[in-house]
Amino acid sequence: MTIASPEKRVWWNEPIERVELIWIAIAFLWGLFMFFFMVAWHFFGGQNLSNETYRVTPGEYEQKVYDFAGQYQVGEEAGVPVVQPPVGGDAYMLARLWEWWPILQLREGESYRIHLSSADWQHGFSLLPTNINIQVHPGYEHVITVTPTEAGEYGIVCNEYCGIGHHQMLGRIIVLASEGGAQP
Ligand code: CUA
Repeated sequence: MTIASPEKRVWWNEPIERVELIWIAIAFLWGLFMFFFMVAWHFFGGQNLSNETYRVTPGEYEQKVYDFAGQYQVGEEAGVPVVQPPVGGDAYMLARLWEWWPILQLREGESYRIHLSSADWQHGFSLLPTNINIQVHPGYEHVITVTPTEAGEYGIVCNEYCGIGHHQMLGRIIVLASEGGAQP
C-alpha cells in the first residue's frame, strides 16, 4: 500500500499518451536499425573482424604450429623462434600456459592469414597497442586475415584469466617496414 492511494485505481487501463507511443515506436525502430547495421559494419568501416573458425584438436593444432615454425624460422630470441611466414600466406600462433608461441615477423602492407588456437585452456589474444581482442579456445582454430599498416613491435597479452602465470603470458608480433619504402 502506498501512503496516498492513486487517484485512478485502475491506472493500467488508461490510454497511452500519443507522444509516448511515438517515442516507443522510434526507440523500437532505432533498436532494429542498430541490430541489422551490425551486419553492415562488416562491409563499411571495417570494424568487425572477418574471422573463420574450424574444429581442431589441441594436438593437431600444436603439430601445425611446430611444422610452420620449423619451415619458416628466421631467428630466435630468448629461446623462442622468430618465424616469418610467406607474404600472403598462413601464420600460426599457439596459446598455451603461459606463452604465445612463436614470435611472428610480418611485413607492412602485406596480408596474412593468422591462425590462433590454444593447447590447453581458454586464453584471450589482445594485441597492443591496437584494440584487437580475440577469444582463443582449445578445439577451435580461428583464422583472421590481417594487413599490418604500420611497422613496429606489437605486444600480445593474455586478457582471459588462465591461472598462476596469466600475467606473464606475453607474446610478440614484429612488423617490418615494407620493402619498397613507404606505402603510397
Ligand atoms: Cu592465458 Cu591468461
